[in-house]
Amino acid sequence: MALLPVSDVVDPPFRVVVVEADARRREDLRACLGIDGNADRTVGVPVGVPGDGPGDVVVDSMAGLERALGDGRATVAVVGPGHVSAFGFEQLHRLVVVHPNLAPVVVAPDLSTDLLQQAVRAGARDVVAAAAGPHALLDAVDRVGADLVARGPDRRQRPWPEPGTLRRGRLIVVHGPKGGVGTTTVAVNLASALAASGSGAVLVDADLAGGDVALLLGVTPERSALDLVGSVHYAEPDLLRSLLVPVGERLLVLPAPLEPPGPDGPTAEEMVAVATALRPLGNVVVDLPAGNDEVSRALVEEADAIVLVTTLDVPGVKHLHRGLQRLGLPAERDPRCHLVVNRAGARGGLAVREVERVLDLRGAHSVPDDPAVTRAVNAGVPVVRSAPRAPAGRALARLAAAYAEPRPRGRRRRRAAGMPEPGSGRPGW
Ligand SMILES: Nc1ncnc2c1ncn2[C@@H]1O[C@H](COP(=O)(O)OP(=O)(O)OP(=O)(O)O)[C@@H](O)[C@H]1O
Ligand SMILES: [Mg+2]
Repeated sequence: MALLPVSDVVDPPFRVVVVEADARRREDLRACLGIDGNADRTVGVPVGVPGDGPGDVVVDSMAGLERALGDGRATVAVVGPGHVSAFGFEQLHRLVVVHPNLAPVVVAPDLSTDLLQQAVRAGARDVVAAAAGPHALLDAVDRVGADLVARGPDRRQRPWPEPGTLRRGRLIVVHGPKGGVGTTTVAVNLASALAASGSGAVLVDADLAGGDVALLLGVTPERSALDLVGSVHYAEPDLLRSLLVPVGERLLVLPAPLEPPGPDGPTAEEMVAVATALRPLGNVVVDLPAGNDEVSRALVEEADAIVLVTTLDVPGVKHLHRGLQRLGLPAERDPRCHLVVNRAGARGGLAVREVERVLDLRGAHSVPDDPAVTRAVNAGVPVVRSAPRAPAGRALARLAAAYAEPRPRGRRRRRAAGMPEPGSGRPGW
């Protein structure tokens, strides 16, 4: 097949700049991308890299890239392995911050999770293994360039994903203002069962000061929300996926950090941005910390569904009541709210009806007190997977099934499905 100048094949929407210090690798990348000298890029038609042809260049340093960016054009920078280092990423990040029209694709000597993390934090839109071959690189340039162009000229105006722009999965927050009531148990099992139902789920541990999600799932917390803050607005969903811990086939987990973040930890706005950015990967379940901090408040506000957890004792119910007041959340009138009474049936516990009456919330979902939960916690496997026939396993699977269903439309279908009317205090999907 004859080679055609790209400018004859497609309209030029963006240009490509290759940055590589090593002369041999530079030549390889130049050849791979069909950049002919420092003039027009030519490619074989079957490969079909979109680009603007004229203006594609190959440079040997970040300073060269910076000079090229001076003209303000939309640019996909292919950053070669020679710049894959802490220093290289630092230089790249500086350029990304200053030039909103720059979208880097990093060509990495290997694809370790550490390297992926550093690349994302530096602002890479995609990372390709050097060994993956020319088609993988050309695909990445295609995708990243198309996205860059689609974002239009106001790229600088949108530092965070706007709520609503990336949605696919729903944001479900699990909240138990009083500690120890089983919030994490409910969140972990809800996410695990939702993932198994086929819709895919992401579980975010927002209890940054010491959350137990990783413990309950038996995973090692390598990365946390702290690593995604500041880079979610650059990263492609595929890249975000690679930063999460996979558990089973369809559950992705963002654990709490090993050390609490301190006063410079993520802001509420940043945590909302992280949760929102993960939505293209599936339903996002967020395990909120006990109490009512700013992060919880912001995530509750943004949520599509709010699972409120209490145990059947006076302090649990009192804390939930106060917690709702502090959040300014009129749960009884907010169709997003759903009450879960955990450890139901425990000796001396209040009646579920009594708790519903005090909180003015009907349709509570009961999860029984069950030793299978303790065994599951100790084994690091959610009870919905380790003991699906145990009473708590069944109850938690039923809870998840309610959230896995598509929202029925119209009064008749809602009634037919036995679903609650809006405002009845049951799940608002
Ligand atoms: N339905 C249940 N039956 C028996 N034990 C349970 C049940 N739910 C939770 N537990 C036990 O209660 C303990 C606390 O649960 P969990 O960590 O989920 O609570 P939490 O509200 O998230 O606590 P924290 O305030 O520490 O975040 C766990 O060790 C778990 O074994
Ligand atoms: Mg917890």
